[in-house]
Amino acid sequence: MAASIGAGLNRVDGHLKVSGGARYAGEEPIANMAHAVLIQSTIGKGRVAEIDTGAAERAPGVLLVLTARNAPKLPGTKANPRRPGEAYPLLQDDTVDYNGQHIGLVVAETFEQATHAARLVAVRYAEEPPLARLEQALDKAMVPKHFRDGAREPDSRRGDPEAAFAAAPVKLDQTYTTPVEHHNPMEPHAVTAAWDGGKLTLYHSTQGVFPSRKTVAGLFGIPVDDVHVISHYVGGGFGTKGSTWPHVTLTAVASRMTKRPVKLMLTRRQMYSSNGYRSKTIQRLRLAADADGRLVAMMHDGILQTATFGEFVEPVGLPTEMMYACPNVAVTHRVAPINAGLPTFMRAPGEATGMYALESAMDELAAQLAVDPLELRLRNYAERDEHGDRPWSSKSLKACYERGAAAFGWARRNRRAGATREGDVLIGSGMASATYPANRSQAGATVRLGADGTAVVRSGTQDIGTGTYTIMTQVAADALGLPPSRVIAELGDSAMPATPVSGGSQTAASVMPAIHAAAKAVREQLLALAVGLNDGPLAGAKPADIDIANGALFLVRDPSQREDIGAVLSRAGRDAIAATRDVQPAADAKKYGMHAFGAHFAEVRVDTALGEVRVSRYVGAFAAGRILNAKTARSQAIGGIVYGLGMALTEETHVDARTARIVNANIAEYLVPVHADVPAIEIVLVDEDDPHVNALGIKGLGELPMVGAAAAIANAVYHATGRRVRDMPIRPDKLIAAS
Ligand code: MOS
Repeated sequence: MAASIGAGLNRVDGHLKVSGGARYAGEEPIANMAHAVLIQSTIGKGRVAEIDTGAAERAPGVLLVLTARNAPKLPGTKANPRRPGEAYPLLQDDTVDYNGQHIGLVVAETFEQATHAARLVAVRYAEEPPLARLEQALDKAMVPKHFRDGAREPDSRRGDPEAAFAAAPVKLDQTYTTPVEHHNPMEPHAVTAAWDGGKLTLYHSTQGVFPSRKTVAGLFGIPVDDVHVISHYVGGGFGTKGSTWPHVTLTAVASRMTKRPVKLMLTRRQMYSSNGYRSKTIQRLRLAADADGRLVAMMHDGILQTATFGEFVEPVGLPTEMMYACPNVAVTHRVAPINAGLPTFMRAPGEATGMYALESAMDELAAQLAVDPLELRLRNYAERDEHGDRPWSSKSLKACYERGAAAFGWARRNRRAGATREGDVLIGSGMASATYPANRSQAGATVRLGADGTAVVRSGTQDIGTGTYTIMTQVAADALGLPPSRVIAELGDSAMPATPVSGGSQTAASVMPAIHAAAKAVREQLLALAVGLNDGPLAGAKPADIDIANGALFLVRDPSQREDIGAVLSRAGRDAIAATRDVQPAADAKKYGMHAFGAHFAEVRVDTALGEVRVSRYVGAFAAGRILNAKTARSQAIGGIVYGLGMALTEETHVDARTARIVNANIAEYLVPVHADVPAIEIVLVDEDDPHVNALGIKGLGELPMVGAAAAIANAVYHATGRRVRDMPIRPDKLIAAS
């Protein structure tokens, strides 16, 4: 087969994106469109006692002022919504559970008219003091009721961790915290809703066109086939676009009531109140080791926040269950409801936060033992999945450690913390491990090969910026023997074959096997046609004797005997050959622990006068099964590390304790890393052959590179300064205060 897979093919949608030709959900040109603007609560808890919409209704251009007084009752709100947070708040009553909750929606002829009218709505609240922050609600922490959608218990244990901890010669008991963080994709949430009779079309910036269709149809109580969701381009998701948040359903309600297509785009400020966030986490880690540094007990207790009206639990303890070899392990999750929006999936939920804490604790343990941090990981290397009590389908973490350490120059590191100085600047380096489960779900695809020798590959998946269009092109091209330039990939449409949400790093591992299977079926049909022709160079040959490359079929033993794909089809009297395939995860998948792994190595420079931390060098090494595109994979890995840099040094959402209002709901004061914060990052992609995960050996690389990055940087700050900051982010004031 031609080798398009693996090559660093440029993004096939790259030109459209940089030239403005890629049309996003808020850019669909629809005739007669009206514009919606949200009204959100300005109190943290209570009730809307009075709402005066008269002035707004009389304002120029206004078509509708939607509030709990006139919003239709939606039949599906009581049914179990597909994901937490999708069925509330939908203006079904007057309660206010958090500051920034939707309490109304104005629709007008123009965006400016709707914005103006929204300001004319006068609200009187019956206000109660809110529980604004997790720290204020610790006494309310409880066992989660719907942990991982009920797929497993929130706690787990093996062996006797308490006894092993008590008896161990070396132990550590520390608490690590991470703040509320917001996703901040470049493209805000956007939706355009249009009804045609009883059928709804949604142009929706979503990570899941099929889940979105199911949610909205369920809330309206209509068949899923009456909802058509289209999402051709998504300007970043990071988890916030994995759910169909209430603004989407409200826009569809407004469209039905005004009998107009309606568009709603969230403002950047509203992106902090309308679509989830990462929970603050408080994580207690207890690790115990024998004198040789072998772990004998691990206990990881997480306290997370949720909303008063729903439950989402950041699953911080999961990586501790499987990361290291240890006979005695206990993990607990407790969740406390506060007056905030519902937290949600955010880039490696659980792994990113949990591995920050675990890998910080491992660094502290290494320091106590006076063992090199990398050596400590190797002494505790998990040769099998001890939590699942099964072998790994594949694991190349040792190669990640070795190649990452070599690229970084880890062996030259000074063992002593706080010992490397250049004037006022202390220099240090740290490392951490990465892991993420190799998730897969059922997915479908159609491949159609035309007589013009080009193929169209269709799957109703979505490209959230990771490169799905591009790898779809590569996988189909290789299976069909076509150059990638003769394959067109189409996606982001619920009328196409069904696929899962692009969350949990599962798109490549789920969708590409379906594309591969459909393309192989087309290839087999094509070979059968070629050998069945009455004449021509391939007539009468066996299919097994024929290969296809560069758009032509040829005899393997005599490549001069060849015929173009188009010629075969037209001589056979066919316009096209098509096949659709649906692929499920292998039946024996549960026999193996399936995870991708990696290693981070960071160097920081800390200004002792200012407390400022700069990341000066970085190497990330990752093994995630077969890499489909070296360029997009590297890009994804860099993006994950940049997110980790933000987690370690700059990102946090501040909430006012009195009003429960987010006070830095903008990207001037919520600090995502910018170019000046990010050094050159070297990515090592370790080859890995996994025969079990799926037919193509793909594990997925979406979230893995973010996991552990914050710990590597925090560990480097410790190594530079000798000071351990256990509360992310490591702001200058924390380093100065500690000195
Ligand atoms: Mo990812 S947080 O599963 O979209």
